[in-house]
Amino acid sequence: MEELLLNKDIIELKESSTLWLNTLVKEMRQKGECVYHLGFGQSPFPVHPKIVEALRESSHEKDYLPTLGLLKLREKISEFYKEQFNYKFNPDNIIIGPGSKELLFQALFALDGTVIIPAPSWVSYGPQVNIRGKHISRILTKLENNYKIRPFELENLCQTLTSKQKILIINSPNNPTGTVYSDREIKDIVKVCKKYNVIVISDEIYAQIDFTGNKKKGFFHYYPERTIVTAGLSKSHSAGGYRLGFLASSKEMSSLIKCLASLVSETFSAVSAPIQNAGVMAYSGDSEIMEYIGQCSKIHRASGYYLYHRFISMGFLLPKPGGAFYLMPSFENFRKKLQKKYQIFTSDDLSKTLLSEIKVAVLPATDFYLPSDWLCCRVATVDYNGAKIYQESLKSKVLTEDFIEKNAPNLKLACDAIQNFLA
Ligand SMILES: Cc1ncc(COP(=O)(O)O)c(C=O)c1O
Repeated sequence: MEELLLNKDIIELKESSTLWLNTLVKEMRQKGECVYHLGFGQSPFPVHPKIVEALRESSHEKDYLPTLGLLKLREKISEFYKEQFNYKFNPDNIIIGPGSKELLFQALFALDGTVIIPAPSWVSYGPQVNIRGKHISRILTKLENNYKIRPFELENLCQTLTSKQKILIINSPNNPTGTVYSDREIKDIVKVCKKYNVIVISDEIYAQIDFTGNKKKGFFHYYPERTIVTAGLSKSHSAGGYRLGFLASSKEMSSLIKCLASLVSETFSAVSAPIQNAGVMAYSGDSEIMEYIGQCSKIHRASGYYLYHRFISMGFLLPKPGGAFYLMPSFENFRKKLQKKYQIFTSDDLSKTLLSEIKVAVLPATDFYLPSDWLCCRVATVDYNGAKIYQESLKSKVLTEDFIEKNAPNLKLACDAIQNFLA
């Protein structure tokens, strides 16, 4: 038989590491092994009952919807973002997709230019760019800058790039580090973007899980003419499996939306009608849903801070999280010991050893484009029963470290195991 010929740009892709690790942990747990799963970033809370009810009520909706998405949903998203972030999205410049990941991919497909990605950054940007056979330029960030890019680093890179148009993908609050760009930092980065014709893809999937408390203005506020915002229901509304995301931009980029509408019409056509109708409820601004999102964020903050304090007291180096549900501790202070005792030289060795020796699942920093010998890993803070902890949280005024130890015992046990491992 002739050899099966496959696209060379895709053949070298491996399954997304987060999904792969999740499957492995599930298998280990099915075999009865106790695993502390600090590897998978899925919000553990139930979807709010009002959204579930809206989905149920619209299950009879069966017609194909417009490629841009249900107008009512785009209007609700526009109102919601005006209220929450003071973004002025025109519904005509919003497109709905099956998760923001797909829309990011389509946007990278549609836009021309070199793609600039900070390291560390989310696992899927790189493969998405590679599938297109496009060039990636990375900016290696530093721990002392909380893994955020500095304007001069962007400027230095832009000076070396020959492509007329450039695309910067930036994600705040950030996966994998949990850090958040301040308005000042955004303003300074925007200055460079304007100078070098850099389009910003602002991945704001975690924007409502922000512990810093103060309302952010964001990239779209300072640079509407060349910013694309992506977001959706997966994290703030704990509805990753609904697969509902959106991409929004300004009228200056309406040619992109037109191009995406054509792409969508030739690929997934439209997101399912019942899900889009449920999305109308999710973005309605309903006070109960908003309070629920706020309470879930408080729990994310308490668990993030708990792990942060434990890690700092163990001697790890890491930025304090300002949002999302991730941390990126560096084991640098333990390098000699880890090499000698466990032959750990890379972040891959580190995560494999943590899983095999103490059943703690984390992702290696190399999956997030850090050099392989940086002994860092990404820790997700959500290994607990979301429904239960939410109910308990309503009875407590302050979510203390004791509260987390009692209601998210796997976080405590994982930290204890790591502490013993390093002793
Ligand atoms: C930084 C980041 N961007 C985008 C996504 C994709 O989200 P969605 O479920 O909307 O496709 C994720 C999901 O893990 C993420 O962590």
